[in-house]
Amino acid sequence: MSTYDIAVIPGDGIGPEVVDATAPLVRDAAEAFDFGIETTTFDWGTERYLDRGAMMPDDGLDRLAEFDAIFLGAVGHPEVPDHVTLHGLLLPIRKGFDQYVCKRPSVLFEGIESPLRGYTGGDIDFVVYRENTEGEYADVGGREHRGFDHETAVQSALFTRQGTERIVRAAFEAAADREGRLTSVTKSNAQAHSMVFWDDVVEEVSAEFPSVEVERLLVDAAAMDLIRRPEAFDVLVASNLFGDILTDIGAQVTGSMGLAPSGNVHPGDAYPSMFEPVHGSAPDIAGEGVANPLAAALSWSMLFEHVGEQRAADAVWDGVADQLADASAPRTADLGGDAGTDAVVADLRDRL
Ligand code: NAD
Ligand code: IPM
Ligand code: MN
Repeated sequence: MSTYDIAVIPGDGIGPEVVDATAPLVRDAAEAFDFGIETTTFDWGTERYLDRGAMMPDDGLDRLAEFDAIFLGAVGHPEVPDHVTLHGLLLPIRKGFDQYVCKRPSVLFEGIESPLRGYTGGDIDFVVYRENTEGEYADVGGREHRGFDHETAVQSALFTRQGTERIVRAAFEAAADREGRLTSVTKSNAQAHSMVFWDDVVEEVSAEFPSVEVERLLVDAAAMDLIRRPEAFDVLVASNLFGDILTDIGAQVTGSMGLAPSGNVHPGDAYPSMFEPVHGSAPDIAGEGVANPLAAALSWSMLFEHVGEQRAADAVWDGVADQLADASAPRTADLGGDAGTDAVVADLRDRL
């Protein structure tokens, strides 16, 4: 029997709520499919920062490196600026473990009402491959002349050939395994250096994948088309910032932030990958026990798939689909219901 060591970082706000709620589901899945899950929970986050001045210990990454995978709830707290908390915990893990593929599926499940008129279950099903280690999130820049009228801020984007090629290639591979359609999202009309370089790389890599049909969209048009014709997309590939923005649109057109899962994947086994809902700490609903736990459940499904437990991954994913298709099942408020977080997980456990 395989056993997996998973580092769990509940984090802030609704992060601990959805992590705690889904813990029994994870144990059920392991038991049902005969594998072991050993979780180690780290109390890293903004409470720790307020208490001890750091989001995680200095050797935080070294400690995480030992694990087979990481599960994270959310990071962000109304009392501390977001750049402090996110640069103290979430972003260093993505970058420090070279998790260059941020994989974010958007699926309109049966039984979910899209805010878009006329769409029903199964009509929307795409996945965004977001570059996750450089681009607009590179830590290149600074502030000068603080306090003077000529105060200046520089924030440079960084696009390397290796970094661009590897995310583009991963997206082509995904498209070849799916419907064979890839949309590359850029802003080449305005950003004539980085984005034209990105286009060149897409052109080069496309030669390796003759079966994949390639479409290019400017990011403003892509934002529009994710609303106008979301059914037309299969795999999208985008830079760090564009992928971030487009996946919130993807979450919303498929029903809710509360349903959107993600994986920060380092292909290969040099480092652990990290799975987390796309949503944040949702301070507006934190502490009320009403957060939708399904984005977390689906993220656990992605983690199971990543470690090779495909049957458990399918069972959790299908359980969520089954629950959402059942009009009498409990739903949280983001989906128009009045059930709490725990009731949704209890119902899901019954379905497994
Ligand atoms: P958010 O995703 O936390 O919330 C956006 C909206 O969606 C809110 O109205 C919230 O109530 C709702 N929502 C989100 N998740 C939900 C769920 N599971 N169930 C029901 N409703 C849900 O985004 P925000 O408000 O822009 O950010 C809040 C904080 O989280 C900030 O500090 C931000 O920096 C941080 N953040 C962290 C992550 C992360 O840890 N991966 C992601 C996004 C934002
Ligand atoms: C996400 C979040 C993060 C990001 C923030 C909190 C830094 O929005 O995971 O989508 O931009 O990647
Ligand atoms: Mn985001």
